[in-house]
Amino acid sequence: MPTVVVTGANRGIGLECVKQYAADGWKVHALCRRPEKAAELEAVSGAVEIHAADVMQHASINETANGITDPVDVLIANAGVHGKAAGEFGALEYDVWRSVIETNVFGAVATAEAFAQHVKKAKGKIAFISSKMGSIGDASGGGMAYRTSKTALNMAAKVIAAALAGDDIAVAPFHPGWVETDMGGPNALIDTGESVSGLRNLIGEMTVTASPKFLSYDGAEIEW
Ligand SMILES: NC(=O)c1ccc[n+]([C@@H]2O[C@H](COP(=O)([O-])OP(=O)(O)OC[C@H]3O[C@@H](n4cnc5c(N)ncnc54)[C@H](OP(=O)(O)O)[C@@H]3O)[C@@H](O)[C@H]2O)c1
Repeated sequence: MPTVVVTGANRGIGLECVKQYAADGWKVHALCRRPEKAAELEAVSGAVEIHAADVMQHASINETANGITDPVDVLIANAGVHGKAAGEFGALEYDVWRSVIETNVFGAVATAEAFAQHVKKAKGKIAFISSKMGSIGDASGGGMAYRTSKTALNMAAKVIAAALAGDDIAVAPFHPGWVETDMGGPNALIDTGESVSGLRNLIGEMTVTASPKFLSYDGAEIEW
């Protein structure tokens, strides 16, 4: 039975990852901040184990990782925040911006570090859920905190891909689409089912490379 680890597993894209992998017969380690409040996650049937982990608290991720002994075929670093309250240039709230970077960059990278040994054991894959909003080539302005966090995450993904290629681990960042979740809002273009089906196909096709591409859920390549 292949094993997947998902962060931010209690709602949105992370929850849908849990549902789809569990329905496909995978063992799922579902990480979330407050398992006691994750009723929808608890209701998912299949081989799902729920663990507490706040990606801003590196000790919490390490403790959770240390408690899991399975080799990990796929790690999905999905947890993220938008941080609209960081505001825009001219009136930036640096404490909020800092917390966005701590979650979207440090949190994702710390998750990869915590589970790197598990992924090595399986010669597995690490997928970072990034955003097209992190593309410098595509950027139209606005969204300072979120955009800079995802740009940094993309660079981190490339650095980690190069660091782990020698261990036969495939690493890449992905854009999940504009998805109807709490973050994506009601006007989003696709639902979580469509996003995660696409992401799962792409994750299935990931290969070991020191220089991954930045792909959208539908396979379209996005400019860095
Ligand atoms: N929706 C979109 O249109 C869209 C587009 C591009 C990229 N993305 C990316 O896709 C990923 C998932 O987004 P989503 O749309 O599913 O958002 P969402 O519905 O707002 O869910 C965000 C998830 O991240 C978790 N999270 C936030 N901070 C955390 C922390 N410090 N530790 C652990 N978990 C934390 C949340 O947990 P709590 O419930 O505890 O807050 C929640 O499970 C994010 O990385 C986001 O940037 C989304």
